[in-house]
Amino acid sequence: MKTNELVNKYGEMAADIGEIIISEDQIQKRVKEIAEQITADYTGKDPILVGVLKGVLFFMSDLVLQIPIPVEVDFLAVSRYSSEARSKSFVRLLKDLDTPITNRHILFIEDVVDTGLTLNYLLKSLREREPASLEVCVLFNKPKYRLIDIPLKYKGFDLPDRFVVGYGLDHKEKYRNLPFVGLLKAEVLQTP
Ligand code: IMP
Ligand code: MG
Repeated sequence: MKTNELVNKYGEMAADIGEIIISEDQIQKRVKEIAEQITADYTGKDPILVGVLKGVLFFMSDLVLQIPIPVEVDFLAVSRYSSEARSKSFVRLLKDLDTPITNRHILFIEDVVDTGLTLNYLLKSLREREPASLEVCVLFNKPKYRLIDIPLKYKGFDLPDRFVVGYGLDHKEKYRNLPFVGLLKAEVLQTP
């Protein structure tokens, strides 16, 4: 879609986007490829796909719709403090899983991994419950400021170290419902 078409469709949200870095088509194509890999690897394993709210919303739904084998889904919700000071942030669990995961095959689904602190905290908590296996699937990987090395079995896209919105990712809870991923204009990011 061209910029003027986007502004027509998404109005004020599109007007705040400086640049689209991953289009809706590119996202959908990659999600389908990842779903095919997951289907091949998890057939017969009855896995639980565990997502982290809220960013994972659209990725999880598009992904599971492309996986034609029995899977269960469950969600965690976290909050992260002081996202400005990356290394000094803390993660707090707001919602735990509904399902026991002991002896189950768990595929952990995240929208974006940056420092890895959130993912590391959550994986540790899941590992303590002794699942049969625990792997990670991330749609957007920002490797530049990774503080903790975490093996990512499935990965959608590598992103530059820029703050992005869309396809689930927010800025102050807005822009999640854009079907592409884009950079916000500088003046939007700077508003308090
Ligand atoms: P980490 O703990 O530094 O790996 O941060 C991961 C979390 O930070 C994600 O689950 C997102 O909620 C948030 N995050 C990181 N980068 C972005 C971004 O570019 N846009 C929106 N949220 C982001
Ligand atoms: Mg997230």
